[in-house]
Amino acid sequence: MCGIVGYLGEKEASSVLLEGLKRLEYRGYDSAGMAVLNGKGVAKAKCMGKIAALKDVISSQPIHGHTGIGHTRWATHGKPCDENAHPHTDCKNRLALVHNGIIENYLEIKEKLLAAGHDFRTETDTEIIPHLIEVYYQGNLEDALINALEEIRGSYALAVIAEDEPQKIVAARMGSPLVIGIGKGEYYLASDIPAFLPFTQEALLVEDGEVVILTPEGVKLLDSQRKKIERASFRVLWDTTMAEKGGYKHFMLKEIHEQPDVVSETLAGRLKQTGISLEIDLPKFKRVFLTGAGTAYHAAMIGKYWFENLAKIPAEVELSSEFRYRNLLLSKETLVVAISQSGETADTLAAVREAKKQGAPVLALTNVMGSSISREASCLYTRAGIEIGVAATKTYVSQLTLLFLLALKSAQDRGTLSHLEFQTFLKELYRLPELVSLTLKKEQEVKHIAKLFSGRKDFLYLGRHVYYPIALEGALKLKEISYIHAEGYAAGEMKHGPIALVDETVSVVALALQSPVYEKTISNVEEVLARDASLILVTEETNKQASKYTNNLFLIPETHWLLSPILAVLPLQLLAYLIADKKGCDVDQPRNLAKSVTVE
Ligand code: G6P
Repeated sequence: MCGIVGYLGEKEASSVLLEGLKRLEYRGYDSAGMAVLNGKGVAKAKCMGKIAALKDVISSQPIHGHTGIGHTRWATHGKPCDENAHPHTDCKNRLALVHNGIIENYLEIKEKLLAAGHDFRTETDTEIIPHLIEVYYQGNLEDALINALEEIRGSYALAVIAEDEPQKIVAARMGSPLVIGIGKGEYYLASDIPAFLPFTQEALLVEDGEVVILTPEGVKLLDSQRKKIERASFRVLWDTTMAEKGGYKHFMLKEIHEQPDVVSETLAGRLKQTGISLEIDLPKFKRVFLTGAGTAYHAAMIGKYWFENLAKIPAEVELSSEFRYRNLLLSKETLVVAISQSGETADTLAAVREAKKQGAPVLALTNVMGSSISREASCLYTRAGIEIGVAATKTYVSQLTLLFLLALKSAQDRGTLSHLEFQTFLKELYRLPELVSLTLKKEQEVKHIAKLFSGRKDFLYLGRHVYYPIALEGALKLKEISYIHAEGYAAGEMKHGPIALVDETVSVVALALQSPVYEKTISNVEEVLARDASLILVTEETNKQASKYTNNLFLIPETHWLLSPILAVLPLQLLAYLIADKKGCDVDQPRNLAKSVTVE
């Protein structure tokens, strides 16, 4: 995730852009920059670090002008540094561009442009775009951009300015957010409304495939066929705090609803028609050992099943706080996969160091570029964007998506799946963002059930196999934000203890999805119903038997059973959120917890 802004009007563009970027800083802050048309050409300022650092650069070397674009970066391609900060320019510095998203085919385009003599200065995927526009530019920026976009595959919200057209900004959107702000004789663009809310409350949404042209004459919108379209603007009724949360009451709820986009970002450039392609080569390994803490540990647990089932590799999992106290006998043939959203959890970092000491190759899955763990191991990023709510939601789903890709890539390398099986998984992964979105559309149903259960004191979450870690995660979410006692249990273990607790005061959340463990789980459901527990069932919308057991149903769309845990956790996140909110808890900052635990 990155944030982009643009301004065209009478004000000093640099001050408006700085104000907008400050409000988008939640989207990333490893570097920032802006470009303004100052009457002589493109004037740029960019630097590593937060918006405050960019502000200092501009105070010491002011940029004057009334048309400009700005960017706050959350690095994906190319490390955070001054050069890789946006805006990026063409060879002659006559065009400047900011971009949020990922260009999947940038390497092949870059090779072509290098061969044609273009001069590249950064490691980013973005830099190919101004060079491609340069190829097509003949005095009309929108024409050149439209031609360039035809060659590009991937996700983007981007804005571009040209020295030869000092009163114009052209922008485009595909898969990353973009909104226009309309003031009196002035225009704004941004990744998110809060960026321009202090200046105007009139906004216009841009849809995927559209191109926007801002000039002093107004806003021109072209559809994906490049035909002019009319769209009415609307008035934003949020106050500033609401706006930062995108209109949601809490960051946690906003982050839950960001999950379709997050899954797309995690898959981008890695999921291809021909198979899985990761940015790094995996070492040869015969065994895999996964580790993490808290929610990341719950991701690691599911990863174990995926490695076993897809790649047929022996897999083990351990809490990172236990890892280094065991005699693990690791070797160079054991791949250690360390999962950490922050990349800073002290126990996970210690596990990484211990594994390296024992000579094992370590692969880190983390969300934060430049974090301690990412610096000490080879690394794949989950690309979930900044998560502000202390309870992990979108970062968990991105960890699961990345782990599935990793296990499927290992299966691909080893040839452990038939062509048909492999193709089925690719197809289901392509559908995943849409399936996540469809699942989240059921929020009203979850709300109704949350209302019924919000006064209850004891929850038992039950699941088997891949759904067991989801039961643990569901229970963790509920206890950490609503302070209600909740336990996750392997459904088959219930008879060995917890069933003694079950009576009419206990609420059971059971994960019974079509899979080899469906019938066994349903037997456990019967057992708790026989003891008068109140039941919530998570199952597929195609399950005709479901209402036999309860009316409290969280129904998810059908997919392959190995992927369905990624959907099954979504209503449990919503349930925890809605109950905590109903109880008036401080959802985003629950008592006694921290987003990142950097002590052992
Ligand atoms: C804390 C957070 C959890 C997180 C865990 C591991 O407990 O509150 O949400 O799952 O740390 O954090 P990591 O950054 O390593 O994933």
